[in-house]
Amino acid sequence: METTPALARDRDELAAMLSSFTGRRAVVMTMGALHEGHLALVRAARELADHVVVTIFVNPLQFGPHEDFARYPRDLDADLVLLATAGADLVFAPGPNVVYPDGDPMVRVVAGPIETVLEGTIRPGHFSGVLTVVLKFLHLVSPDLAFFGQKDAQQLIAVRRMVRDLDVPVEVVAVPTVRDADGLALSSRNVYLTPEQRRQALALSKALHAGLAAASDGAGAVRTAARAVLDGEPEIALDYVALIDPGSAQEVARGYRGDAILAVAARVGTTRLIDNTPLVVSGSGGTS
Ligand code: PAF
Repeated sequence: METTPALARDRDELAAMLSSFTGRRAVVMTMGALHEGHLALVRAARELADHVVVTIFVNPLQFGPHEDFARYPRDLDADLVLLATAGADLVFAPGPNVVYPDGDPMVRVVAGPIETVLEGTIRPGHFSGVLTVVLKFLHLVSPDLAFFGQKDAQQLIAVRRMVRDLDVPVEVVAVPTVRDADGLALSSRNVYLTPEQRRQALALSKALHAGLAAASDGAGAVRTAARAVLDGEPEIALDYVALIDPGSAQEVARGYRGDAILAVAARVGTTRLIDNTPLVVSGSGGTS
């Protein structure tokens, strides 16, 4: 039976509702505009925890001055309906004054070298903003488990490193990316795409497929195969094709063998999309 989750809008309401929870607690953090990808996180949390808390907060700290903070899609009522179907128990949807009562926080989490590669170079300050709000929500919700999507691979790496490096008492659980039937990774930003841009955006998942198929030919071959697909779609503006270490987000060397993540990012019209796939690199061929 579907039950609408309880809704907390401030710290006191959240604390009061959490005090009735007795078992294992999970958190799924979101910025709303929920889709099947978020619901997969909630369902995975439902499997492993007795109580599932979902946070909905469009975090100003992680948006650059020219990014889409103001137009980021927001629809709390629709999100609550979806969360009822997925089995969330409690939704914490605070406003910015609740999360940052003194305005922009003076002290923030520093993402270190993760901030200097890929999304970090294109979106300065982004991971510091993400980690700062993630740490705050971990403190406020005190979960045993925290669920994050593999879709945001670099964010997942950053959160795992923060939890490990700062001894945060929570277990991070990664959930695989959910895709539409044609391969496009679900993202709240897909709503910005026109039908033609949506077709062009498929180059990202096709590039990952090509890279995956080249994994037994070495790191260089993976990068070359993925880049060839993206070069074949001139309407999209490629930001990067990268083959990274899943523990540090740094590029792997040419002769690398083992677990890696192939990550791509591109602008389709004015919409920035990212995607990635985990893979195991073997062989040592390739030119880049
Ligand atoms: O992945 C997101 O939606 C956000 O970065 C997160 C983790 C909710 C922090 O604002």
